[in-house]
Amino acid sequence: MAKYIHTSTLSLLEKTLGPTRTSLARKKARLAFVTFDPSLSPANSVFPKTLSMPSNLITINHANVFSREKLDIGTRFFLEHLMGDRHYGKIVDLGCGNGILGLTAASQHPGSTATFVDESYMAVQSARESWKANQLQEDKGRFIANDCLTGFPANSADLVLCNPPFHQGETIGDHIARRMFKQAHHVLRPGGELRIVGNRHLNYHTRLKQLFGGYRLVASDSKFVILSSTLKSQ
Ligand SMILES: C[S@@+](CC[C@H](N)C(=O)[O-])C[C@H]1O[C@@H](n2cnc3c(N)ncnc32)[C@H](O)[C@@H]1O
Repeated sequence: MAKYIHTSTLSLLEKTLGPTRTSLARKKARLAFVTFDPSLSPANSVFPKTLSMPSNLITINHANVFSREKLDIGTRFFLEHLMGDRHYGKIVDLGCGNGILGLTAASQHPGSTATFVDESYMAVQSARESWKANQLQEDKGRFIANDCLTGFPANSADLVLCNPPFHQGETIGDHIARRMFKQAHHVLRPGGELRIVGNRHLNYHTRLKQLFGGYRLVASDSKFVILSSTLKSQ
């Protein structure tokens, strides 16, 4: 849409891909035509970018991945309260971004398998490369580009970790978070846990209470809450 094509967008295309021109606007949309200049790419890109993380881990961050320049403050807080003393065999990092939540959980629980899910292919690729870069066992990591957990089997996860998005494209709201929680409820085995981080004002606890019949406040600070809900045995 023309309103999203700014001069800065065009100069970015010029800088990273090559000479760029645009069509006239029609039905509020414009086309951008870029002639690829191989001398510009990819050596000029700062991506993928390697970041140092807590617990001596590193992440590999492709362009456009969430918090690709620096660890997000909500994620950092979540990492301090990632899991309790239980053993979790099958971990899902839902909305994985660069994969730091699942990587940390899996490295704390040797022998567990971790499934990384994101709607962004660049995020899934970042998580895959992060897993490899930390020398985690290859066959214990699964990387899936998917809309939330749509199509995942019931009764297949012990722990779902989630730092949900509060906007998708231009739309701001908790609709994706709500879908993530509902689908996590579906894929967890009885006794399995959904653990999330969110801004305090988002009231995720209300939704968890509706779905799971309860929740536990794991930790909170002035900005964030970490909540946990367990799927009751039938
Ligand atoms: C707040 S970021 C969290 C990233 C990472 N887990 C972290 O804590 O740094 C939310 C992630 O959810 C992903 N996401 C958004 N909508 C999604 C959907 N419908 N299905 C799966 N992932 C989605 C985004 O691409 C983004 O990587």
